[in-house]
Amino acid sequence: MSFVTVEDVFQSYDDRPILERVNVEVDEGEFAAIVGASGCGKSTFLRLLLAQERPSRGRVRIADAPPAKEPGLDRGIVFQKYSVFPHMTVRDNIVAGESLRSGWGRFFGRKSKAAKIRADETLARIGLDHVADHYPATLSGGMQQRLAIGQALAAKPRVLLLDEPFGALDPGTRLSMHDFLQELRAETGMTVFMVTHDLEEAFKLGDRVLVFDKPRWDPHDPSRYGATITYDFDARDGGIPFQKLQEDTHVLQANG
Ligand SMILES: Nc1ncnc2c1ncn2[C@@H]1O[C@H](COP(=O)(O)OP(=O)(O)O)[C@@H](O)[C@H]1O
Ligand SMILES: [Mg+2]
Repeated sequence: MSFVTVEDVFQSYDDRPILERVNVEVDEGEFAAIVGASGCGKSTFLRLLLAQERPSRGRVRIADAPPAKEPGLDRGIVFQKYSVFPHMTVRDNIVAGESLRSGWGRFFGRKSKAAKIRADETLARIGLDHVADHYPATLSGGMQQRLAIGQALAAKPRVLLLDEPFGALDPGTRLSMHDFLQELRAETGMTVFMVTHDLEEAFKLGDRVLVFDKPRWDPHDPSRYGATITYDFDARDGGIPFQKLQEDTHVLQANG
């Protein structure tokens, strides 16, 4: 049985269709990379998985139930721009991430000490234990993104949502973040949805690559129709050769 099920989902804003008839089933532990033109509704799709929004039509199920309303309960999210709290130390950012799951109250008094010990374990795992008492602004971009991922993971989500998480990083840092993400995935077995505009990244990290695009297009009124998943590529073991896709698939090329 699929773990994340999206059934006939439509989403409109002010009667403007953004997503239409989106159907997808993702197994627990699968990594779904998402690509598509800017503005086609990829972040909207993640917000629906996060239950930040309800779809205009259709339904989203996670583990055969509607996704929990509380952020962090079963899903963690990381955005392109560092979503960590600037006024908190690196360690306290991890503690805050865990508290999103369990409720803030838990972290007052005696229990906060245990939370700090757990935070330090997470920091060791993501290689930031040596900067636990620093503030995010003093860290490099790659370290801040590692912290953001650590913060999302501190809540032990079953689904990790990544919205262009490495887009702002230089190529070398991005490669080390790929290794980091692959290690975490092997350790935790979590289900991942990652939006990226980098096709090579999508095929390298994803088990599947989902392409969002508009199947219908009105040249006189480009916002008339919404986007859906037009391709669902198997990317395990490299999947379809990346080069071949570039030659053959104009949809992917158009989406850059
Ligand atoms: N809350 C909202 N209200 C109105 N329009 C929105 C809202 N969120 C997104 N949009 C619009 O929906 C479209 C898809 O946005 P988005 O999901 O961010 O695209 P992507 O992430 O693929 O670039 C855009 O045209 C955007 O302006
Ligand atoms: Mg987006």
